[in-house]
Amino acid sequence: MLRCLALILIVLAVVNCHSSLRNDYIRARARASIRKPLKESVATQRVVAIKAGETSPETHADLFFPPLPGQPNNDFHPQLRHLPSGNETLYYYSWHIHVYFFHENVNVTTRALAIRQQFMSYFNIEKCLGNCFMGGIFDNCTRMCVWDPVMGVDGPHPYGQWGVYLPNELLMDTLSWMSANHGEFEVLFHPNTGEMVGDHDSQRRAMWIKQTVPLDLDFLRWLQCKWFGCSEGF
Ligand SMILES: *[C@@H]1O[C@H](CO)[C@@H](O)[C@H](O)[C@H]1NC(C)=O
Ligand SMILES: *[C@@H]1O[C@H](CO)[C@@H](O)[C@H](O)[C@H]1NC(C)=O
Ligand SMILES: *[C@@H]1O[C@H](CO)[C@@H](O)[C@H](O)[C@H]1NC(C)=O
Repeated sequence: MLRCLALILIVLAVVNCHSSLRNDYIRARARASIRKPLKESVATQRVVAIKAGETSPETHADLFFPPLPGQPNNDFHPQLRHLPSGNETLYYYSWHIHVYFFHENVNVTTRALAIRQQFMSYFNIEKCLGNCFMGGIFDNCTRMCVWDPVMGVDGPHPYGQWGVYLPNELLMDTLSWMSANHGEFEVLFHPNTGEMVGDHDSQRRAMWIKQTVPLDLDFLRWLQCKWFGCSEGF
């Protein structure tokens, strides 16, 4: 009888041990599946959102590469001269919104462009004129505006999207509207700091509504290297 009891206890102990081993294993797997952090340090980055018309050229122009010789103003996408390290302030000059849709599907496209029309009416805005890319000292755009919809691959964007140039002050209102009205569509909100790779990266500064669409960040790295030389870390 006693021997029998001892055997039951041993069996129970083994079963118990197994289940706790399995829990450890599951936890270890879960930990391993968490994406590796981009940097080991937990230091946070200081961010300053520039108000429209606030930047003074003396303090900010020298952070950026100038346009290349012969490069027209509306083809100049300001690029920081170097990747800001953790102890440097990041300046947000403006935001962009991109709403993605399958441009080869006529019905989807119709619905996506209807939301664009509603967005434009609600905020009483028009198409962008001239160069509305970055804001700050870099162009003359101080009001929110929309670009022409893009029906295909464009830079890092893998398929159709329509987009908005957004002064910082309008982030709250537009984010609120989009959270309620995006419907079936994925929406990217990204800041413009001049470091375009991190601006578009959802592990860095980009924000998504609904879910992420994979962007070709290599294109932005390539652009950076092609125009301005490859800085370490981009
Ligand atoms: C900021 O960090 C860089 C390297 O990440 C370091 O070289 C530099 O000395 C730091 N500057 C200050 C003011 O702490
Ligand atoms: C698009 O909508 C029309 C009208 O509702 C419908 O007849 C058609 O099948 C739809 N096409 C696709 C690809 O869903
Ligand atoms: C910006 O400049 C362009 C021409 O380069 C002009 O068409 C546009 O109206 C200007 N926008 C503003 C807001 O002044």
